[in-house]
Amino acid sequence: MYNFLKMTYFNQNITAWYNQNHRQLPWRKTTDPYKIWISEIILQQTQVKQGLNYYIKFIESFPDIKALATASEQNILKVWQGLGYYSRARNLRKAAQHIYYNMNGRFPSTRNDLLKLSGIGPYTAAAIASIAFNEPYAVVDGNVYRLLSRFYAISTPIDSTQGKKEFKELANHLLDRDNPGTFNQAMMEMGALICTPSNPLCNQCPLASECKSFLTKTTDQFPVKSKKTEKKIRHFNYAIIQINSSLILTRREQGDIWHGLFEPLLIESDKEINDIKLAKLIQQHWPHFNQNITLQTTKKQILTHQIIYAKFFRIVIPEETSIPDMFNSKQLLMVDFDQLKQYPIPRLIDQYFNIDFHP
Ligand code: ADE
Repeated sequence: MYNFLKMTYFNQNITAWYNQNHRQLPWRKTTDPYKIWISEIILQQTQVKQGLNYYIKFIESFPDIKALATASEQNILKVWQGLGYYSRARNLRKAAQHIYYNMNGRFPSTRNDLLKLSGIGPYTAAAIASIAFNEPYAVVDGNVYRLLSRFYAISTPIDSTQGKKEFKELANHLLDRDNPGTFNQAMMEMGALICTPSNPLCNQCPLASECKSFLTKTTDQFPVKSKKTEKKIRHFNYAIIQINSSLILTRREQGDIWHGLFEPLLIESDKEINDIKLAKLIQQHWPHFNQNITLQTTKKQILTHQIIYAKFFRIVIPEETSIPDMFNSKQLLMVDFDQLKQYPIPRLIDQYFNIDFHP
């Protein structure tokens, strides 16, 4: 088992380091559980550097539970646009509605009640419970896995059931029960600023003198993962269909990435295709549709589990062409160029409209 005698050393050093070195961030200057919740959801998959401006914009747009509960999904996704993992935003709205309409607007104050909310799992529940309510639960996120696996040189894979159990127990043993919120933030801050994934700053680390992987020069071997994430390759072919000053958009459906966001007409293909093939595919759906199609640009976006290759094909059609209401069972919307800004759109498509699209 681990040397728990190191606990005091670990605790004292990490807390002292945090008190001296932590970044001044808006969610560290409040005890409002709503704001802490928003910050933790944003920071789940996003680094502080990128998340900070989103946090500021989100709190400005939706300053409290009521504002969030009564906002439309489209408005919330618009503020979230570009941050990715959009189910986080939809779950925030769902949870806010539950708190506002079913719990008299009172934010749950225990870990167990927090866990009942949409989008709140063990990590977020422990973070909010400890930071906002001083409950003694350790958070275990990527930072914590990295820090602990290196400090104790633990080889149990962090993505195994055994690993998850082991690291959770260890973090809870180490937790400073008098200041759980500060301890948890110190762990995450150390992971973000010192014990970084590559080239950790061991010469500035307050734990280096007892860190097993530092002392054996093996920091690059931790944490251990059992499987490599395979990324699925997808080909998205977007038909940018323009009639006068309008474009066709559709809303993405449940069960896939970008649910609730809007996009131009999409034809997904197994392989890369060219303009001739795309014209054929469009004609299969709309036999009367016979227009010039030009490939404008190709873009790539790497997500956690997928790589998206997107091609943007431009189609300008005469006013009199009749456009059906549906395509592949999707409702088609005619959106004026001026209105485009109001729709939440995946980053890749937003880049296309900002850089490559000239009406
Ligand atoms: N990552 C997740 N939560 C965080 C927090 N409260 N501070 C810094 N990084 C974090």
